[in-house]
Amino acid sequence: MNSVKSYIQEHKDRFLNELIELIKIPSISADSRYKPDVLKTAEAVKKSLEQAGCDRVELCETPGNPIVYGEKIIDKNLPTVLVYGHYDVQPPDPLDLWDSPPFEPVIKTTELHPEGAIFARGACDDKGQMYMHVKAMEYMAANNQLPCNVKFMIEGEEEVGSKSLSWFVPRNKEKLANDVILISDTGMIANNVPSITTGLRGLSYVEVEVTGPNRDLHSGLYGGAVANPINVLTKMIASLHDENNHITIPGFYDKVIELSSEERAFMAKAPFSLEAYKKALDIEDVYGEKGYTTNERNSIRPTLDVNGIWGGYIGEGAKTVIASKAYAKISMRLVPDQDWEEITNLFTKHFEALAPKGVRVKVSPHHGGRAYVTPIDSIGYQAASKAYEQTFGKVPIPQRSGGSIPIVALFEQELKSKTILMGFGLDSDAIHSPNEHFGVWNYLKGIETIPWFYKYFTELSK
Ligand code: BES
Ligand code: MN
Ligand code: MN
Repeated sequence: MNSVKSYIQEHKDRFLNELIELIKIPSISADSRYKPDVLKTAEAVKKSLEQAGCDRVELCETPGNPIVYGEKIIDKNLPTVLVYGHYDVQPPDPLDLWDSPPFEPVIKTTELHPEGAIFARGACDDKGQMYMHVKAMEYMAANNQLPCNVKFMIEGEEEVGSKSLSWFVPRNKEKLANDVILISDTGMIANNVPSITTGLRGLSYVEVEVTGPNRDLHSGLYGGAVANPINVLTKMIASLHDENNHITIPGFYDKVIELSSEERAFMAKAPFSLEAYKKALDIEDVYGEKGYTTNERNSIRPTLDVNGIWGGYIGEGAKTVIASKAYAKISMRLVPDQDWEEITNLFTKHFEALAPKGVRVKVSPHHGGRAYVTPIDSIGYQAASKAYEQTFGKVPIPQRSGGSIPIVALFEQELKSKTILMGFGLDSDAIHSPNEHFGVWNYLKGIETIPWFYKYFTELSK
């Protein structure tokens, strides 16, 4: 197994070039104009799995984007690892904030990535991290080091809510049967502080529309006499948090599991510099729910954030107008045991009740999912921990993340298996932002660490 290092050394340029080619295809799932590129990416992933040594690879049709499935079954009596990842990416806008075009990957060094990082949309989320598994598979298959069965399921709608995968999983339980699910689509604390993600937040994402008068009005002739939808919407949104930054929706916290003081003390031991955090974001102070630390606010606590807000005149110069409509997109990050559909209903009821008589409110739910927390005493976690210890020389720290991969809770419900989140990105890699990047060192370290997971998982399963 020590040959994995030399195999990577020997093939590292090709590993990088293959990933760069994959990243060049703009597989933006949110924008239907990119559908041909989405399909092209699915084909490219399929081909890469064939080349890596999977026996059966197929594009599974769904009502939406195809799911790439591949497998190598070496012995029915051995355990099976199911690898999940996504080949779709977020839209790259705003384009003018990128230092280089989002789909023309370049390698540049940064303070945290002295060995270089690939700058492009999808470099870290999730093409780079997904492709680590393809290359780890190639190594294992080519060197007779695959100790168990493996299945790959790479989808193309993660960034838009995994609707087709939610359709696919319950219909293919037997095909997807596994002993553990392995995902690299999260991050770690730092390159010298390895960590394993043990939790993801759930999500409820809604869009709201506030309608006032039946047409845009002159803000002088009508101003002050009718409800201005933008004024009303911003006031309603502002009232969703109280002076302690608690969320004011009745019932919102009812099912939240509070962590014990022991658990919180354990969390607080993870290395974290508030000064460095503020400096990296160029903010004078952090902000959030009273009574909780920054790391608690962004992982074990539920939150509500406006993700976009629009209405009225936003062109050049001034136009004196009261808009007929105002809109906002709002995300709520959820924690165990909040139910996303219930939260969506609570939000809707509350938001409708907040509206003054002079406006009408429409709430449209987008998508959602439950939070997920994985135990650290499972074979899967132990195998991952040993794998990191092997390649980083340090025991990784278990850490709950604030991000969401809503499909993970569905995997547990439908496939009855636990997910292990071996993420190799850094929070500063700017996923979903301009100048997203993924460290070359991280990419290669991931490829090196993954085969050890397979080895330890198979051994511990005996
Ligand atoms: N890979 C991310 C989630 C993530 C990133 C989790 C870093 C933990 C650490 C995933 O692609 C993502 O962006 N998820 C969305 C939700 C989805 C339904 C659009 C998110 O968290 O906003
Ligand atoms: Mn992702
Ligand atoms: Mn993402």
